[in-house]
Amino acid sequence: MVYAWIIVVVAIFVAYSHYDEVNAFQQREEEESCNFYEGSWVRDESYPLYDSSACPNIDYQFDCLKYGRQDLNYLKYRWQPNNCDLPRWDGKDFLEKLRGKKIMFVGDSIGHDQWQSLVCLLHASAPQTPIIHTGSENSSIHNFTIPGYGTSVIFMRQQYLVDIDYEDKIGRVLKLDSIKNGELWKQMDILIFNTWFWWNRNDSGKPWDYIQIGDKIVKDMDRIEAFKLGLKTWVNWVNAEIDLNKNKLFYQGITPTHWKWDGKAFLEKLRGKKIMFVGDSIGLDQWQSFVCLLHASSSPQTPIIHIDDDFGISSVHNFTIPGYGTSVIYMKQQYLVDIDNEKLGRVLKLDSVKNNAVLWKQMDILVFNTWFWWNRNDSGKPWDYIQIGDKIVKDLDRIEAFKLGLTTWVNWVNSEIDPNKNKVFYQGITPTHFRVDDTNNPICSDKVDNSNCYEQKWRRSGLSASWELGVD
Ligand SMILES: *[C@@H]1O[C@H](CO)[C@@H](O)[C@H](O)[C@H]1NC(C)=O
Ligand SMILES: *[C@@H]1O[C@H](CO)[C@@H](O)[C@H](O)[C@H]1NC(C)=O
Ligand SMILES: *[C@@H]1O[C@H](CO)[C@@H](O)[C@H](O)[C@H]1NC(C)=O
Ligand SMILES: *[C@@H]1O[C@H](CO)[C@@H](O)[C@H](O)[C@H]1NC(C)=O
Ligand SMILES: *[C@@H]1O[C@H](CO)[C@@H](O)[C@H](O)[C@H]1NC(C)=O
Repeated sequence: MVYAWIIVVVAIFVAYSHYDEVNAFQQREEEESCNFYEGSWVRDESYPLYDSSACPNIDYQFDCLKYGRQDLNYLKYRWQPNNCDLPRWDGKDFLEKLRGKKIMFVGDSIGHDQWQSLVCLLHASAPQTPIIHTGSENSSIHNFTIPGYGTSVIFMRQQYLVDIDYEDKIGRVLKLDSIKNGELWKQMDILIFNTWFWWNRNDSGKPWDYIQIGDKIVKDMDRIEAFKLGLKTWVNWVNAEIDLNKNKLFYQGITPTHWKWDGKAFLEKLRGKKIMFVGDSIGLDQWQSFVCLLHASSSPQTPIIHIDDDFGISSVHNFTIPGYGTSVIYMKQQYLVDIDNEKLGRVLKLDSVKNNAVLWKQMDILVFNTWFWWNRNDSGKPWDYIQIGDKIVKDLDRIEAFKLGLTTWVNWVNSEIDPNKNKVFYQGITPTHFRVDDTNNPICSDKVDNSNCYEQKWRRSGLSASWELGVD
């Protein structure tokens, strides 16, 4: 994840270093009285602008409402520029302005998402006229036309913008200095381009075998360099072929993340590795999710092996994925620091992590979390005294206690973990985490078929009481 962010940052610098070449855009931007690109997302209760489940043109992957997505907060955001207000979207007005016009998105799945959204927005504005779709499932061009307006909204999948050609002897060649689709692009009134994610791909899904620059054909090269060369070819094409007084052209920047989970590739990376979540029920939830993800996306036919071990006070649940030797372990330790049974009762030891640190050090990846329990004061509180050094007290300012405990943990990490060998994550504090009523929660109840998930079966069979917790 961190690696991906670094790449994105690098890419943004690359894009900046091309600012001279995209001068044309800057000039246009300065002509406007307001920079629409500087602003923030603000919550707006009047959103969303369309009901995606009523959009007949949406791909199933994006039809979250139809498939029962419960949290709808993500729909309630609107872009607010810093120095001006955008007029509210008016689909009829938009269609009127774009009567007879052709709009094309060219790029990868980011462009595809934007295009789908626009098609659904337009459909909501003219629901009585069904949108006509041409282009087959596998075609690289999808053409939606809104009858009555003659407006076409087209998507062309071309992840690199530059060409990929099939050459007889060697296979698929990514040609960094060739754009052959320009003739089609020039017929459009509005063009929206995007490219980035595919430049860094190196797995089996990579759609080319060689890269060509001029006469030189290579098996691979520095990808940032390749991206620069490809984008330069595209910029030159735009400058030579597009009259910005006649056509409008947009280049969509790079989004920070956009992932498709690939469980097999992920498991491959984790072959032989040991991953441990240590903490309270927040860590437990993450661990459970993770186990289900691996189970679902790897080989459901190979059952995950589950072993419960009792390591003194902390219980450990150990799931191993046979064939990969990957262990995904959860250790319940709500405070990270120790709780020991002493003569006077259970003592929370703010400066001790001796009980479990031996086990932590054997892990390749550690994911820690702690917070909720520090503030508990009810009968479920699992300690009777707090110890700091030689001092034993009945209670203590809890924020202070949390600080001391966390400092002990940080010191342990700093002295015992080599970040070049092991990865350590500390999960921040979630804003809320409430007990849910299983019967009303489709995620937990039998209303949704979770039977493919090993974890859920385990839960249902009641092997462990710890699953009954919502807040732990
Ligand atoms: C699209 O391609 C997939 C995989 O090659 C194939 O299974 C499917 O039948 C194709 N669909 C159409 C409409 O040609
Ligand atoms: C899209 O469809 C419209 C209406 O059928 C047609 O006029 C237009 O040429 C098509 N455009 C492309 C690029 O296929
Ligand atoms: C892609 O994989 C090949 C073969 O494993 C390797 O030689 C090359 O350096 C990799 N390129 C990048 C950019 O990761
Ligand atoms: C988890 O299980 C695997 C496979 O049985 C084993 O090799 C590993 O030592 C176990 N780890 C812990 C912490 O129990
Ligand atoms: C916890 O409860 C005890 C007993 O009621 C009380 O003395 C103490 O101040 C409480 N501590 C916090 C942090 O609320």
